[in-house]
Amino acid sequence: MTAGPTRPRKQIHLAAHFPGVNNTTVWADPRSGSQIDFASFVHLARTAERGLFDFFFLAEGLRLREHKGRVHDLDVVGRPESITVLNALAAVTDRLGLAATVNATFNEPWELARRLASLDLLSGGRAAWNVVTSSDAFTGENFRRGGFLDRADRYTRAAEFVAAARALWDAAGEGPRSFAWSGDHFAIAGESAPPRSPQGRPVVIQAGDSDEGREFAASAADIIFTRHGTLEAGRAFYRDVKRRLPGYGRREEDLKLMPGVTVVLGDTDADAQERAAEIRRQQISPQNAIHALELVWGRDLSAYDPDGPLPAVDPDPESALVQGRVRHADPFEAAARWRALSEEKGLSIRQTVIETTSRQSFIGTPSTVAAAMTEFVERDAADGFILVPHLTPGGLDDFVDTVVPLLQERGVFRTRYTGTTLREHLGLAGTGVEGLTA
Ligand SMILES: Cc1cc2nc3c(=O)[nH]c(=O)nc-3n(C[C@H](O)[C@H](O)[C@H](O)COP(=O)(O)O)c2cc1C
Repeated sequence: MTAGPTRPRKQIHLAAHFPGVNNTTVWADPRSGSQIDFASFVHLARTAERGLFDFFFLAEGLRLREHKGRVHDLDVVGRPESITVLNALAAVTDRLGLAATVNATFNEPWELARRLASLDLLSGGRAAWNVVTSSDAFTGENFRRGGFLDRADRYTRAAEFVAAARALWDAAGEGPRSFAWSGDHFAIAGESAPPRSPQGRPVVIQAGDSDEGREFAASAADIIFTRHGTLEAGRAFYRDVKRRLPGYGRREEDLKLMPGVTVVLGDTDADAQERAAEIRRQQISPQNAIHALELVWGRDLSAYDPDGPLPAVDPDPESALVQGRVRHADPFEAAARWRALSEEKGLSIRQTVIETTSRQSFIGTPSTVAAAMTEFVERDAADGFILVPHLTPGGLDDFVDTVVPLLQERGVFRTRYTGTTLREHLGLAGTGVEGLTA
């Protein structure tokens, strides 16, 4: 490249997602390890830190999923609590941000603000909170309150929750300080608990795609975790969310968009495509194919042959066959789409599921992937990526060893950490720590 850019190149933010309970992890691979052993968390976190990533990310599920009235055991059942794991990881990492998904519906601000501030304190300013809002009654049965919140109220509670947590964080000082916060969902007052943490306010992440979710993110989040992983969908989502920011007195750079993406690498692009196809086949076993079909249809379809055609019956929209997973908003629409695809391409049930559910984002040689990621960020389809590996826990080793150096050569990714806090890694201003001494 001869003509140098007139402004500094937009930098890519990277995060590592520890695969949760879905069938992303290819268990059939002999290299796949334990998903609950602390050594697995350490491996992925240290790999991410070696790769100078912004943060390590843990998702959350508050009730074990059920399928046909039994705990769903086709992938992984249960996982350790996120903040506990991150506190332990804080001790074996140095700069890596530590992001926990914690529900705003089933927790209380004082307690959660204290736990997050404690993680921020113990980690030297590396804490982040992914605010999720599930209100479904099935999850609620695990709690004293039950499924107590209507869908429409989820984000009003989440917004108040974050505002109350901020009041608590902002009140924190050398010792306890009094605070008071009240709204429709909370009326709380008392003393803030832990001393002021290095970031003041832990980083706030939002994951959820509805209009209310986007509005909440524009008003209160530092990062959006999204599933819009293609260039065009990403650009549309990016424009939509960023245009909402001025309404809250915020600037475009105050909110980073990070889709969850997967990467498949190979020695040649063709080799990577072949590996990607193999990974998809391993992720969608014959049983997983029927399960995915039942997620759409809401009916017991165990009598169907995964290598045969899609069922002719219609979906059951009222079905409670599947619990703890978001169902398709319109199962009839989804079923019609699946049928059309299957007919057009002559696909079996399993092949249709592979085609419709796979989310492989970047496939190719390390240099193909580095170029594609750079293009995504430069064309404002994202500000960075939350990488979801196929292998637990070694699935990002190759990426860090081969793609990160190429991103660095391109001048779009850091060559060392220049700050110590997650806010500094993200280049976020207005941190709430102004005027504080370390
Ligand atoms: C990328 C992404 C990741 C999510 N991760 C979680 C999670 O780990 N735990 C959880 O309870 N909900 C999770 N959610 C669900 C959201 O918090 C929310 O309940 C759901 O998206 C419905 O909200 P919406 O109507 O705004 O999309 C996630 C959603 C998205 C889009």
